[in-house]
Amino acid sequence: MKKILLSMIVACMAIPTFSQVPVYLDDSQPIEARVQDALSRMTLKEKVRLSYAQSKFSSPGVPRLGIPELWMSDGPHGVRMEINWNDWGHSNWTNDSITAFPALTALAATWNPNLSGAYGKAIGEEARYREKDVMLGPGVNIYRTPLNGRNFEYMGEDPYLASIMVVPYIQEMQKNGVAACVKHYALNNQETWRGHINVQLSERALYEIYLPAFEAAVVKGGSWSIMGAYNQIHGQHACHHDRMLNQILKKDWKFDGVVVTDWGGAHNTEEAALNGLDIEMGSYTNGLTSESDFGYDDYYLGKAYLQMIKDGKVPESIVNDKAARILRLIFRTAMNRNKPYGAICTDEHYATAEEIGNEAIVLLKNAPVTKKAPALLPLKADYNNILVVGDNAVRKLNEGGGSSELKVKDMVSPLDGLRALYGNKVKYAKGYAAGRPMYGQVDAIPQQVEDSLRAEAVAMAREADVVILVGGLNKNHFQDCEGGDRQHYHLPFGQDKLIEELQVANPNLVLVLLSGNAVEMPWINKVPAIVQGWYLGSMGGKSIANVLSGKVNPNGKLPFSFPVKLTDNGAHAFDSLSYPGDGIKQVYKEDILVGYRWHDTKKIPALFPFGHGLSYTTFAYGKAVASAKKMPTEGSLEITVNVKNTGNVAGKEVVQLYIGDEKCSVIRPLKELKHFKKISLNPGEEKTITFTVTPDDLKYYDETMKGWKAEAGKFKAYIGSSSTDIRTTVPFVWE
Ligand code: BGC
Repeated sequence: MKKILLSMIVACMAIPTFSQVPVYLDDSQPIEARVQDALSRMTLKEKVRLSYAQSKFSSPGVPRLGIPELWMSDGPHGVRMEINWNDWGHSNWTNDSITAFPALTALAATWNPNLSGAYGKAIGEEARYREKDVMLGPGVNIYRTPLNGRNFEYMGEDPYLASIMVVPYIQEMQKNGVAACVKHYALNNQETWRGHINVQLSERALYEIYLPAFEAAVVKGGSWSIMGAYNQIHGQHACHHDRMLNQILKKDWKFDGVVVTDWGGAHNTEEAALNGLDIEMGSYTNGLTSESDFGYDDYYLGKAYLQMIKDGKVPESIVNDKAARILRLIFRTAMNRNKPYGAICTDEHYATAEEIGNEAIVLLKNAPVTKKAPALLPLKADYNNILVVGDNAVRKLNEGGGSSELKVKDMVSPLDGLRALYGNKVKYAKGYAAGRPMYGQVDAIPQQVEDSLRAEAVAMAREADVVILVGGLNKNHFQDCEGGDRQHYHLPFGQDKLIEELQVANPNLVLVLLSGNAVEMPWINKVPAIVQGWYLGSMGGKSIANVLSGKVNPNGKLPFSFPVKLTDNGAHAFDSLSYPGDGIKQVYKEDILVGYRWHDTKKIPALFPFGHGLSYTTFAYGKAVASAKKMPTEGSLEITVNVKNTGNVAGKEVVQLYIGDEKCSVIRPLKELKHFKKISLNPGEEKTITFTVTPDDLKYYDETMKGWKAEAGKFKAYIGSSSTDIRTTVPFVWE
């Protein structure tokens, strides 16, 4: 005892040297050692305090130990403007204007994982400059219905495409010492009743459709945090869902990061404590309705949680686990001394935004106006009178929409972009009005205003060489906007009528749709050229002008199907219990047949299928060849195909490989995307593409054995330019 005392006194008297810096402060030490060291110095109260907010967008560190707080920001298309400490109001700073990057649907439409990495890098740098530690994104909820108000924040309907695209975004962003917070885990596939709707679905649909992109984000992307969803899953809220969080995420996927609630997504202390939640944000607790009265200690993971631990109702191992995860996150981000300084609105970031926009735009249709004429796009060089029509040609589409709103420093609108290329050959008419992005406002424009705007545009269209209508949806409530779903599938603000009349006035009509969702197109046969232009952020107008003019040969492909009518979509093919539910619960009745899986299997053609996107050139596919007729049980098969640019301009093609199981004891989609490659080809150039198909590509989720399984037998690889434009197939056997 004496000896110990003596050595303690000596230790206290010794002159501190660098090596005596506490382990948790020494960033040359492994993070786990630092976490354990910090934990050993903390009181119970300090550990608990890590688990709930101190303001709208921050959670505290451990001030006594010099461990900093975590600052979070939306996400996912840029760094959101500053929000007030205690409420949702904008702080009105002058130095929080940033670069808006294309929406995630647009990123998915590039089918280019390198661009996803560039996106993550750029947004990570902007987050660093703005001193954010956690970016609330990217979102990978699957596109189940075209009515979901938040589809624009996600990566489409296919789990494989979303999985491939999400990984580089996360990896490159986190190199900046900024955590991704992938969201909304899971099954937040609609905004209607999002706070409580109880989603019921099969295990197959869960594993085959809705989980893979989250799993990829965690396991391959190494996401440092994840956000729980608002909804319930089989009767329990996703933000404190024992199976989803403790079992699947933390045990099966070995997630070592932090589970953050969606804002206000916690509902119960015991579940929040025991079911895998780590940080609670945005709660309205204790009956308080005024945000300025918030008592953060009243959060579910606040004093009630502390009391449960003291009463022995929550084991200390749980407190330690939550605190360790949060410390790990702090060391990876806020306390990471090696992170770069960051930058906003650099030329490089704008170039990245433009490049993503260039590759995201999808040429849906491009027909000649008369039989002998060439296709309407690209625009002819001798047009002298180009009429641009539409509210979306000038509207700031990064405002509104909910939490993804952005304060943008520079914004090139489609009208700006076209004027920069064509100067005063461009005239403009508004054509339709969309009103202000107010909650509760649906198409509320007086009829006479709508009529006169349309009449003006139609009159001007008669004089024009070509008319470019930039329309679509916008970020108003009940359009592409958080907190509500679209109320119908057709275009809003009287655009259907406008399109019909413009086309009569001038058949040279190009329609550019800015939206994050499919829309109904009753006039499809009358409009020769249709371009899906998404929400492309700061440089969107440039990208659109690039594609319309032919400076860029379009090469984006749809990340989701456009059904002809709403009931052609699987989720809408059943009664309202399937969508939107009965107010309490909903049942995903289309099961695994989401998106093109439904269209294909049920033989209901889409208006524009998943994977579709035209080019100004043409690509010829050779016959695909497999390295063998049988795939070895544990081995792989190489499938090669030649693709040649047979047109006159250079172009990019996304070569898609789908696999179908010819016969199976359970229902399977006709085919599923398993590989793709984006290639660049000069006129006349030919490339050989090789895909390596493995037994994993043949499997389905077997509910009985609770695992992935393939049944021996015949399979077919379908290779083509979209999910329906299949150019070559190869049968093979797996035993
Ligand atoms: C949204 C999240 C967002 C959070 C913070 C919630 O309403 O669902 O996506 O990150 O607010 O703004």
